[in-house]
Amino acid sequence: MSSNAGSFSFDRKDLSRFLFDLYDYEPRFLRKLISARPYVCPFEDIVRHIPRNARVLDVGCGNGALIAILLASGRIREGIGCDVHEGALASARKAAARTGPGQKVSFRQIHGFEELPDDRFDVVTMVDVLHHVPETDRAQAIAEAVKRVGPDGIFLFKDMVEKPYWRRLAHNIDDLIFSGEWVKQVKTADVEAQVGNAGFELIESLCIPRIFYGNTLRIFRRL
Ligand SMILES: C[S@@+](CC[C@H](N)C(=O)[O-])C[C@H]1O[C@@H](n2cnc3c(N)ncnc32)[C@H](O)[C@@H]1O
Repeated sequence: MSSNAGSFSFDRKDLSRFLFDLYDYEPRFLRKLISARPYVCPFEDIVRHIPRNARVLDVGCGNGALIAILLASGRIREGIGCDVHEGALASARKAAARTGPGQKVSFRQIHGFEELPDDRFDVVTMVDVLHHVPETDRAQAIAEAVKRVGPDGIFLFKDMVEKPYWRRLAHNIDDLIFSGEWVKQVKTADVEAQVGNAGFELIESLCIPRIFYGNTLRIFRRL
């Protein structure tokens, strides 16, 4: 699969097609799920906060869709994805190998957030991960992620909304079906307070509704 950085389209339909074609080695149902993601997850809003040529750490990268999009759009010079799930990482490696025109990319299995690479990045992303983490471990997950943000760097946090009730319910039902968990929504205000206390300013705060779902996107910059 070749990258076409100059003309990469963030139109949802085009992104969906890009992911469907890229993950052609996955079973059809999973391919369909991956390619449906741009209709729920606001990739275009995420990507525009990632400076060109950035070195990115994606915490809880799953099958690497975000890194694949960043590579194909020519956005990053280096990417590291970490996840607990080795099967997802194997898929991410395959997708990145077919996407990147030579950027440095790697994927690592971690068993706890303290195992994230001991390094500093221009951008650390955490997209739809925290609601899967037990409530008692969430503060540690955030602390370990923000520790990896370099000077003037960005911490990009995306999760699902707590309100209104029906959007939260849609998200709960989705997670129950696809991951077998009845998740406890993340308290975004707690994340804002913790990241602020760690020396970051909140530079953008967005609530992005998609179909029945609601996304919260928070962009923090290290002061
Ligand atoms: C809904 S998926 C999101 C994947 C990816 N960020 C995306 O947006 O496509 C949640 C991911 O979080 C990962 N995850 C859950 N708990 C984790 C932990 N403690 N450490 C690292 N990854 C974790 C899961 O394995 C899964 O890949």
